[in-house]
Amino acid sequence: MIFETIVISTDVAGEPHVTPFGVKHEADLVVISPFKPSKTLENILLNRSATVNLTDDVRVFAGALTNHQPWQLLPADDIQGFRLAGCLNHIELTLVEVREDEQRPQLVMQPVNTQTHQPFKGFNRAQAAVIELAVLASRLHMLPPEKVKSEIQYLQIAIDKTAGERELTAWNWLTQKVDAYYLENPHD
Ligand SMILES: Cc1cc2nc3c(=O)[nH]c(=O)nc-3n(C[C@H](O)[C@H](O)[C@H](O)COP(=O)(O)O)c2cc1C
Repeated sequence: MIFETIVISTDVAGEPHVTPFGVKHEADLVVISPFKPSKTLENILLNRSATVNLTDDVRVFAGALTNHQPWQLLPADDIQGFRLAGCLNHIELTLVEVREDEQRPQLVMQPVNTQTHQPFKGFNRAQAAVIELAVLASRLHMLPPEKVKSEIQYLQIAIDKTAGERELTAWNWLTQKVDAYYLENPHD
């Protein structure tokens, strides 16, 4: 099973890098699988640590892909790094194994500190729709435009019926990114 999270790594200067990643759990370990090239991969290989953050603020997923920064960060407690302020839960991780692969290595990470900050409020369809569009928006160069456009039409139904302010903001950032991509790449 894959859980959609926000991974925060730090670069050589200690600057945070905030990126959506689907992670897997293997017993008590967390596995992050970045496609190369990846700044997150570079950072984790360098500093051997990161945090995995669970949030229902989907602006973080959309913002990380669209040059908006709707988040605030706090220092992590047990690693050199950061976590999302206002997240539901975060896990501080250290790297214990790298499963090498040409395209998509696996970073196997050991939790050293897990904290829950807020309860899960329940499923929201608009949040799920934003996550789906975020995945599409991160793969535009690989996907047929007709598929992207028809999926957006379908996902729009959940947005219209169930979105709040945060979901609408995130949805708008992502649809603007998709529109701008097809304007710049009319043959895609
Ligand atoms: C919900 C979601 C899950 C994602 N999961 C992955 C993943 O498992 N591996 C990956 O390489 N990119 C994933 N992406 C795309 C990355 O967020 C994005 O491409 C990012 O640029 C990764 O590169 P970076 O480490 O250089 O920031 C995901 C995007 C979204 C919206």
